[in-house]
Amino acid sequence: MSLRAERVLRSAQHVAFFRKAGRWGHARRIVEGLLRPDAVEYPFEYPITTEIPVSDPRYNALLSAFYGQTTAQLEAIARAGHDVAVLCEGDPFFYGSFMHLHARLKGRVPVQVIPAITGMSAAWTATGQPIAWGDDVITVLAGTLDQARLEQHMRASDAVVVMKIGAHFPKVVRALQSAGCYEDAWVVQYAAMAGQSVAKLAEIKARSLPYFSIILVHGRGRRP
Ligand SMILES: C[S@@+](CC[C@H](N)C(=O)[O-])C[C@H]1O[C@@H](n2cnc3c(N)ncnc32)[C@H](O)[C@@H]1O
Repeated sequence: MSLRAERVLRSAQHVAFFRKAGRWGHARRIVEGLLRPDAVEYPFEYPITTEIPVSDPRYNALLSAFYGQTTAQLEAIARAGHDVAVLCEGDPFFYGSFMHLHARLKGRVPVQVIPAITGMSAAWTATGQPIAWGDDVITVLAGTLDQARLEQHMRASDAVVVMKIGAHFPKVVRALQSAGCYEDAWVVQYAAMAGQSVAKLAEIKARSLPYFSIILVHGRGRRP
């Protein structure tokens, strides 16, 4: 977390955050002990996470309604004259749920986004190796892509980051094998969180990975 984010959080009277229904929430856990004792908290519980495939029209409908409701809550707090800090895991503008609120709030109430350290940065740091050297081309892929597109981008890149893996793990592994990167790939689970683990992909026997998992292939580019 940046100093700027910490300063905002320590003084925030209203704090909102996303979480899976019934869970404490990773973002909230990270700031435990940092919030004002009288801070008012707004947990926004996702109506679904992985229960319905992204391709199902109900997926978009449910999430769109959810983001509409949460936006209305934030707007009401702002219109009452208060600031509200929204917690995000990693960088809000990098595959973060907050971007869906930002798109809806933009132009209605003032919004400031504080840049942050992404999970992938914590992941490659956990491997103890740089991800990109010299003029290496690094590609960030979502495990939700189909195998052909994964392979195509893996072949064209010097360094690779795969996020959003979960149950797509076997397909991502097949793509890495076909693209010739499997032996060089690493898996980092819960980077910079309690329970962090770092392993060569070839050592992993599971058929799926937890939500907070990233696969990395390090670049080996030009160096003096
Ligand atoms: C919706 S994206 C959010 C990315 C986030 N905004 C960021 O900047 O890292 C969630 C995906 O990011 C990856 N991720 C984020 N933080 C992680 C961490 N600390 N350890 C492992 N994977 C992480 C996982 O692949 C996860 O499925």
